[in-house]
Amino acid sequence: MGLSIRSLRAADVPAVESLWEEAGMTSYASSGDIADEITDKLERDPDLFLVGELDGTVVATVMGTWDGHRGRIKRLAVAVTHRRSGLGAEMTDELEKRFVDRGITRLRLEVWADNVGGLSFWEERGYELQPDIRYFVRNLDDSDDLC
Ligand SMILES: CC(C)(COP(=O)(O)OP(=O)(O)OC[C@H]1O[C@@H](n2cnc3c(N)ncnc32)[C@H](O)[C@@H]1OP(=O)(O)O)[C@@H](O)C(=O)NCCC(=O)NCCS
Repeated sequence: MGLSIRSLRAADVPAVESLWEEAGMTSYASSGDIADEITDKLERDPDLFLVGELDGTVVATVMGTWDGHRGRIKRLAVAVTHRRSGLGAEMTDELEKRFVDRGITRLRLEVWADNVGGLSFWEERGYELQPDIRYFVRNLDDSDDLC
């Protein structure tokens, strides 16, 4: 059976967390922070947090956020064993559709500069690299965590 895409549910939290760990997307934060990020999203707008399942197993995620003007795409991840078979594209197609259904048509996202696969993925989809933008962060508490 093909990929089944649906909104996040509370029961997905452990599976999502381990998928992100496998994808190397949790190194910046503690386990509690990651769980909080997921459950916060669940409370606010879970229909923009998608999980993709194959045979009942979560193998992909993508999250959309919205600031009232632009949409932002975060947390696109596909299980290592299922990459390069179009799942990332399917997840992004569905999120883009949900954005458009809400009238959100301007999208942004960030990719680490050394993430060659990620950069290729977005370029291949027609996303344009913005060389003129620099990205600033600041922690307003004492932590050294990456924002
Ligand atoms: C980036 C990622 C989500 C891609 O998922 P995927 O399911 O493998 O992507 P798809 O199969 O839909 O790829 C679509 C196209 O994107 C491009 N692409 C995807 N991964 C690529 C890679 N590693 N290198 C080069 N091009 C790549 C290709 O053009 C591909 O088409 P093709 O396979 O027919 O050549 C996946 O590699 C991943 O989870 N990486 C770790 C987390 C991450 O980096 N997330 C993105 C940061 S925002």
